[in-house]
Amino acid sequence: MGQPDSADITQFHQHDHILILDFGSQVTQLIARRLRESGVYCEIWPFNAAPDARIKAYNPKGVILSGGPSSVTAEDSPRAPDIVFELGVPVFGICYGQQVMVQQLGGRVEGESGSGEFGRAYVDIVDESKVLDGIWNTGAHEQVWMSHGDHVAELPDGFRVVGKSEGAPFAFIADTDRRFYGVQFHPEVVHTPHGAELLKNFTHNVCQCSGDWTMAAFKEEAIAKIRKQVGKGKVICGLSGGVDSSVTAVLLHEAIGDQLSCIYVDTGLMRSDESAQVVKLFRDHYNIPLIHEDAGEMFLSGLEGVSDPEVKRKIIGSLFIDVFERLAKKDGDAKFLAQGTLYPDVIESVSFTGGPSVTIKSHHNVGGLPDIMNLELVEPLRELFKDEVRVLGVELGMHPDFVKRHPFPGPGLAIRIPGEISGEKLEILRKADAVYLEEIRNAGLYDAIWQAFAVLLPVKTVGVMGDSRSYEFVCALRAVTSTDGMTADSYPFDHEFLSRVSTRIINEVRGINRVTYDVTSKPPGTIEWE
Ligand code: XMP
Repeated sequence: MGQPDSADITQFHQHDHILILDFGSQVTQLIARRLRESGVYCEIWPFNAAPDARIKAYNPKGVILSGGPSSVTAEDSPRAPDIVFELGVPVFGICYGQQVMVQQLGGRVEGESGSGEFGRAYVDIVDESKVLDGIWNTGAHEQVWMSHGDHVAELPDGFRVVGKSEGAPFAFIADTDRRFYGVQFHPEVVHTPHGAELLKNFTHNVCQCSGDWTMAAFKEEAIAKIRKQVGKGKVICGLSGGVDSSVTAVLLHEAIGDQLSCIYVDTGLMRSDESAQVVKLFRDHYNIPLIHEDAGEMFLSGLEGVSDPEVKRKIIGSLFIDVFERLAKKDGDAKFLAQGTLYPDVIESVSFTGGPSVTIKSHHNVGGLPDIMNLELVEPLRELFKDEVRVLGVELGMHPDFVKRHPFPGPGLAIRIPGEISGEKLEILRKADAVYLEEIRNAGLYDAIWQAFAVLLPVKTVGVMGDSRSYEFVCALRAVTSTDGMTADSYPFDHEFLSRVSTRIINEVRGINRVTYDVTSKPPGTIEWE
């Protein structure tokens, strides 16, 4: 959870758990992912958002201090709450987290321009440590990933050097008695090949976490929590056909049976055949009652003349709620609305500076909902990362092919047609998208790609088809690899594949006469175009 003040923060306390204090690093979430992958429950809290009593009450088996963009040498730079060093539990500082620990415990950090290390670096191991057991021996020369300008220059009492690199004489430090450890490099990123094992040694060997966080355990607890929250109340769940909302629905159905009604709002912004597939899956396969609301006209007219992406998102979010509230009234007055909000959405909506993070896009799972809503939210996946949701889906008996489906955004194709949308443009895009996905499946590439889709650009270009001039739209293809949608790289298709897709789209889809491939990574791009 990103919100240490929220009432249900202690929900998963019965598992061994680690507290990660965030100092604003771009990769803090990866620390949590590495820990969860090794069966350890953890939460990320902004470094300054929890009072001492709250941290104490949380009773973590260990604390990890993340990296961050600040310099501890600067006045007013972030500090760890002192209580962290007084709990008697192991502490692991990463990059800025190491420096802040050193500074607060009486050591010294310095920054000279030009002395930083960015990217791949090597650490020489000069001593033993429990964190290194079975991974790196004394004398080893190991690849790590660094990103720092400042470095530790003098150790606090009790610390010794375990590893050094060219730019960081104290690249790995340890105070074995107090069980405080610090690394200048980032063990959470894949470019530190043994980083995940180091973190596992810390959590399992040093903090003595048992690795009891599994999706089977989560499922049972989540079911109990849902029952407690909703009592005998009725819940409606907006299904989009995507993995998150589908897993939410199946989990809720297991928890509360026919107190749940699922609503599939056909916004008219869905992909080809999507509506029929979703309806079939839920009614026939899961035997979950489904209200199929055809609201295409309403969404299309609500979006008429609108071209600003944020306005589009807000309109769609609020139309969704209108439909839900209307149907909720009809459905014996449901009091709850379930949705598949994930942990990254929760963390992203809280920033370590205390204020809201810069809004890049108002995702309609979180930011796009109207402020006044008469339904209480049920969000059973709030603590999970996407890969955990997929495991949970399989745990719930969902077909692995279904849980591996690419993500599809709530606002649908509306955010894949930059500018004004129309029924005609939607129809063109649906056809192009279907051809593209069919070719990806035929090439056996679907599972290697995080998400692939076509975008219809509001630009017409001149072409020649047969002996005639054509003047039609441009279609952009997007495919990315990613682990969580937070960062992404464009997928490196071979040229032959792209030519094949382009030829098919231009031949089969009237209204498109040019196809381009988007090679932008995220950042600086986002995955969707709007
Ligand atoms: P961006 O475009 O922000 O997308 O890089 C990251 C991931 O989020 C999906 N996405 C959404 N999902 N509601 C959703 O449920 C939304 O409003 C929304 N906008 C983007 C996007 O498809 C990608 O997987």
